[in-house]
Order: sequence, then structure tokens, then C-alpha cells
Amino acid sequence: MVSERPRPMAPSRRNKIPVAVLGATGMVGQRLALLLSDHPWFELVELTASTRSAGHRYADVVPWRLERPLPGAIGALTVRETSVADVRAPLVFSALDASVAREIERPLAAAGHLVVSNASAHRMDDDVPLVVPEVNPDHLGLLGAQQRGGDGGLVTNPNCSTIGLVLGLAPLHRAAGVRRVVLSTLQAASGAGYPGVSSIDLVDNVVPGIPGEEEKIEAEPRKIFGSLDDSGAGGVIEAGIEVSSHTHRVPVIDGHLMAISVETDEGLSVARATELMASFRGEPQERGLPSAPSSLIEVVSAPDRPQPRLDRDAGGGMSVTVGRLRPCPVLGLRFELLSHNTWRGAAGGTVLIAETLVARGCLP
Ligand SMILES: NC(=O)c1ccc[n+]([C@@H]2O[C@H](COP(=O)([O-])OP(=O)(O)OC[C@H]3O[C@@H](n4cnc5c(N)ncnc54)[C@H](OP(=O)(O)O)[C@@H]3O)[C@@H](O)[C@H]2O)c1
Repeated sequence: MVSERPRPMAPSRRNKIPVAVLGATGMVGQRLALLLSDHPWFELVELTASTRSAGHRYADVVPWRLERPLPGAIGALTVRETSVADVRAPLVFSALDASVAREIERPLAAAGHLVVSNASAHRMDDDVPLVVPEVNPDHLGLLGAQQRGGDGGLVTNPNCSTIGLVLGLAPLHRAAGVRRVVLSTLQAASGAGYPGVSSIDLVDNVVPGIPGEEEKIEAEPRKIFGSLDDSGAGGVIEAGIEVSSHTHRVPVIDGHLMAISVETDEGLSVARATELMASFRGEPQERGLPSAPSSLIEVVSAPDRPQPRLDRDAGGGMSVTVGRLRPCPVLGLRFELLSHNTWRGAAGGTVLIAETLVARGCLP
């Protein structure tokens, strides 16, 4: 259980924090634009993309594919180039391809911007926090090492499948120590960005083996569940959790489903695991942050749930849904977990990190 703490001071409507979105025309950038169009603490003032889009009105170049209309005020913004000179906002959300993120995120941080990134480029760097705010908010402490030269810094959001996975594992890990995990993912088309996988490849089909994805799902939980190295060396001492992952792209628009088997140091009954998951909360819930779902893990009992179409919007896309919790004859416990890949798994995840940073007083 987390102890009661005072709620953060919310910036008033008149002094919202100006924010920029990099890679604003992509699948994650669109979610960020939608989320930030009506955020109580942040005001979206700058959008960037490639030189193909720069100089045009956002509404004229974005291939808008979300279920809600593009807000007019956001559509009227002119897209800028993705360069240090073009970004002025103190808080920057990056939804860039990893290759572009690798070039610009550190220079932006060095120029004094606080960058919260969805890209994989710097996730495993020693001095960069890789954070799910309900699981390891203490890793934001790594920012101190980066910020010796100023107020800027770089924080990363994990891979979209990793986020759902670690949220499901965290309550089990805290109570009983997760040792080994085997999982198979069924990942939505929007996870591949826009336009993503060709319809000829994906319709009436399942494509196994998403390039680069299994390595991230296997490595990132070790850092997230690791502990800060306070010996003076800095960085994170990784947790000794072994993860084996299979990945598949499936013809679903949004929502990654995972079939997960877990071995823990101490045995856990299904009833105890259910109780641990259903009651799991973290710092965002404790602080009442704007994007924090009150029910973080929805545990469902129907034998054919969770399903992407029915469950991906739980908690406004910020909760994960767990079902089919049952004994595993090989590893001990197994379940299915669904999380929305562009809300909790990307845009919403980075906004929740930024809210946590504000609440902790990490923004100038
Ligand atoms: N989709 C997901 O579910 C998901 C989940 C978690 C993390 N992520 C990560 O989030 C990032 C964005 O993913 P996405 O799915 O939104 O990708 P996407 O749909 O392909 O969008 C990529 C964005 O990057 C911009 N871009 C491409 N080349 C550029 C360049 N040379 N300079 C500046 N901007 C450039 C594009 O702008 P133009 O339109 O002008 O080309 C577009 O705005 C990736 O790192 C991805 O791995 C994605």
C-alpha cells in the first residue's frame, strides 16, 4: 500500500506549461495532439515533423486516423522542422522514429528542454530513466545526473508491449518476486506507425516476429524492475528477471493482447494474484494526476476476455485489463493482458510521466 500524500499543485489555466510534440503527424503524435488539446496543465504550442510536413498547416498534412475529430486550434498550427532551433517549449514530447530521436533528443536536453520520449533510441542508456510512473517513479532520480549542466533532461517511456507487461507483473513482483516470464503478443496494426504494415500482408493474416520487438520486451523489464545504483557509479542495477517473448502483428487497429506465464520466487495462488492486481496503485493514483486511471488493472472474470475491441478503452485507454488468471502447469501462473498501445503504451504514458515530473517539482 502507498501512503497518503498531498495532491500536486496544478498549474492554473492561465499559466499552463507550453509543450511541443515532435513527430506530431504519426500515430503516436496524433494521440499526443488529441490528448494535449485539452490538458489541464499543458498547452500544446508547437508541432514538428519531417521536412515533408514542415511549413504546412497541421490539418493539411496529418493523415488523421483517430476516432475523434482533429481539434480546430491544433489543426491550425503550422508544423515546424524537427531541429533544436525550431523548438522553444520547455517540455517536449517526442514521437519520432528512433533513428531521428537518436540525433535530436540529447541536443534538445542539452539546450535546456525536458524531453519525454516514446522512441527506443536512449531507453537503455545508463543515465536515462525508463519509467512507468506506477512502477518505478524513483528512477526519475537519474535526471539529477543529466541535469548537472542545466534544467534539461531526457526521460523515456518503455516499448508499448513492455508497458502493459510490467504493469501486470509489478504487483506480483512486489509480493512474490518474479523470476521467469514467457509471453506471446498479438500486437495491433497502429503499433507499426502510419501507414504501417501493408494491408495485403495483414488482412486475413497474422505476421509472426516483429523486428526488434522481442529484444526490447526481454531487456526493458530488467531495467524497469532494477534498483538505482547508489554506490556512486550511477545508473540502474538490473533485476534478475528472465523474459522470453514471441511477437505477432494481427489485424486489429488498436490494443496489444499478451498471453503471459510467470514464475515467482514464492508461490502465488490465483486468488492472491487477483487481489494483488485489482488493488495495485502507484504514485499517479496517490497524487491524483490528471491522466492516472483510478482503477489501474481491471481484472475481468469472463472466460473470453480481455478483447481488444471491448477492453482497450478501459480507464480512457490508461488502464490495463487482465483476464483468464489461472494456474500454469509449467511456470505457476498465467493470464492474458490487454493494453492500449498508443494511449497507455505511448502518448498517455509519456503524458503521465510528464505529470509525475511536474508533481515532483522537476520542471523549471
Ligand atoms: N505506434 C505505437 O503504438 C508506438 C508505441 C510506443 C512507441 N512508439 C514509438 O513512437 C515513435 C513514433 O511512432 P509512430 O507509430 O507514431 O510512427 P509514425 O506513425 O511512423 O510517425 C513518425 C513521425 O516521425 C516523423 N518523421 C519521420 N522522419 C522524420 C525526420 N527525418 N525528421 C523529423 N521527423 C520525422 C514523421 O513525420 P512526417 O509525417 O513528416 O513523415 C511522423 O510525424 C517511434 O519511435 C515508435 O517506435 C510507437
